[in-house]
Amino acid sequence: MFPGSIIAARIVKIKVENKETKSFYLKPLEKIRIPQPGQFFMIWIPRYEEIPISASGVFGELIRISVAKRGKTTSYMHQMTTGDLLGLKGPLGNSINLQAGKKYILVGGGYGVAPLIYTARKIIQLKSHATLLIGARTKDHLLFIDEARSLRIPVFFSTDDGSAGYHGTVIELAKEIIHRESFDEIISCGPKEMLIEVARLADKLDINSQILAESYMKCGIGVCGSCELGQSGLLVCKDGPVFSGSTFISALGL
Ligand SMILES: Cc1cc2nc3c(=O)[nH]c(=O)nc-3n(C[C@H](O)[C@H](O)[C@H](O)COP(=O)(O)OP(=O)(O)OC[C@H]3O[C@@H](n4cnc5c(N)ncnc54)[C@H](O)[C@@H]3O)c2cc1C
Ligand code: FES
Repeated sequence: MFPGSIIAARIVKIKVENKETKSFYLKPLEKIRIPQPGQFFMIWIPRYEEIPISASGVFGELIRISVAKRGKTTSYMHQMTTGDLLGLKGPLGNSINLQAGKKYILVGGGYGVAPLIYTARKIIQLKSHATLLIGARTKDHLLFIDEARSLRIPVFFSTDDGSAGYHGTVIELAKEIIHRESFDEIISCGPKEMLIEVARLADKLDINSQILAESYMKCGIGVCGSCELGQSGLLVCKDGPVFSGSTFISALGL
């Protein structure tokens, strides 16, 4: 199938995850490739923009996406109900490189935890080790804590206002945990400033990092050029969204 093809998918289940995020379980009406952790779909709803959303899980024939309410399109999605149809283009982009026998620390901020909960499931399948750190502004914005605990992996969480868990940023929490335990690799998704700090931390500790970058996307398939990472020539939709920390930092000219 041409990567730009849009296929219809039916919403078969909706779960409210927190104050601003809902998960949509989608049943594609045609056969599609199974998304790998880190990959995303362009979601198309008639009369709205096409927007990029990561896969947050695959459950049998259902694909899960988890959407934070931001502007026009995501607000409309939050009003959709089971039985409604939307368009899916993808899965698009590269995926997180995961290997057996490795010890990963996953650092997620805000809705950036969505692709990481899927990543954690894959790491468990590989019989590798995942420790998941979940950061949010307040306890009402924390995402996937119960699901992560049900996976029986070490889970730590932080809030900026101290309303639950560690009081501080998820980066400060990560530094404390990495200080007392060693890991082979950091995988991170969240706001850009947070990702820059993660990449710098990994560089300082001399460990590998994989960063899931975000940028404004129009086509999602490497045609329009709107998603360039800094002025590097790298396209987040095609060369990414997963980049090594060092590539991410140098692409941003930092
Ligand atoms: C590869 C990738 C994966 C993503 N995965 C998820 C996900 O799993 N869950 C999720 O909730 N969101 C995800 N996003 C972000 C999501 O695409 C945007 O929140 C969405 O496009 C906003 O659309 P809107 O029409 O509701 O808002 P708009 O009306 O378009 O914008 C609302 C506000 O959000 C800002 N905004 C719009 N797009 C982006 C963007 N790409 N990055 C940062 N700010 C933006 C705008 O500047 C504006 O301030 C992802 C983005 C990328 C690039
Ligand atoms: S979104 Fe068009 S090139 Fe990436």
